[in-house]
Amino acid sequence: MTRSNALAIEPLTPAIGAVLRGVNLSEPASDGLIDDIRQALLKHQVIFFEGQDLTPAQQSAFARRFGDLHVHPLYERDGGNPEIMVIDNHVDNPTDNNFWHTDVTFIDTPPMGSILHARQLPPTGGDTMWASMTAAYRGLSAPMQRFLEGLEAVHDFAYAFTADGIAGSQAGREKYEKAVAANPPVIHPVIRTHPETGEPCIFVNSVFTRRIKGLRKEESRALMAFLNTHIQQPEYVVRWRWSPGAVAFWDNRNTQHRAVDDFLPHRRVMHRATVLGDKPVFKAAA
Ligand code: SIN
Repeated sequence: MTRSNALAIEPLTPAIGAVLRGVNLSEPASDGLIDDIRQALLKHQVIFFEGQDLTPAQQSAFARRFGDLHVHPLYERDGGNPEIMVIDNHVDNPTDNNFWHTDVTFIDTPPMGSILHARQLPPTGGDTMWASMTAAYRGLSAPMQRFLEGLEAVHDFAYAFTADGIAGSQAGREKYEKAVAANPPVIHPVIRTHPETGEPCIFVNSVFTRRIKGLRKEESRALMAFLNTHIQQPEYVVRWRWSPGAVAFWDNRNTQHRAVDDFLPHRRVMHRATVLGDKPVFKAAA
């Protein structure tokens, strides 16, 4: 365990994940504490805080210390705080986030991070897993790294969210069509350079990446299938068992995550604040 001012930091794996103790996220944090949390996030890619008694407004206030917040065009939102996305899964609304993904890569400036708060948990199950895309990049051979560094990919809202199931009513259809029109496909590099650490990482995911530009359809499919399998290696992954009030804050620029869909018929309710980031770029090493 290491200490940074008031924080105690307990790494969970060599590649990714650490628990931070000694912080109450419901209280306004000093600039120094926010900087310590940012440094821990940069180092460990996903950080966890246990036992946080947070209102949606307090979660939103904490998240805003790191940037502007994204409002999701489709998902349910907290009544008074539309920037808090509500993930409420039960028998009538099974989970749809049990696929490896990076959040909201369908926009030009995908989030720098997401902050997830456990509001209601099943007795067991409902864990979340995160994978380090820096470690996954390092796990590739040098020729494969070079090959991927020259490529760009198409990320598409409509690839992930299809009309079936979402646009069940007239209101649902209108909301869906508005969201599709507001979110046309965007292009991102397949390997991005992290804007703060300067490290390269894989930046395609199975949910939003429709295809790799310039490759034939079969080549793109085969390469995506390889990458989507490669990133799941246990050496790159941390699995988090939630406890009431726990918070996870992940760096969305160099990680992917997925929920574990094993808790029905129980209910699981999570609140997410999503902090906007910058336009992904790849910078060749000097
Ligand atoms: C998410 O996919 O953003 C949330 C993951 C979870 O519900 O565990």
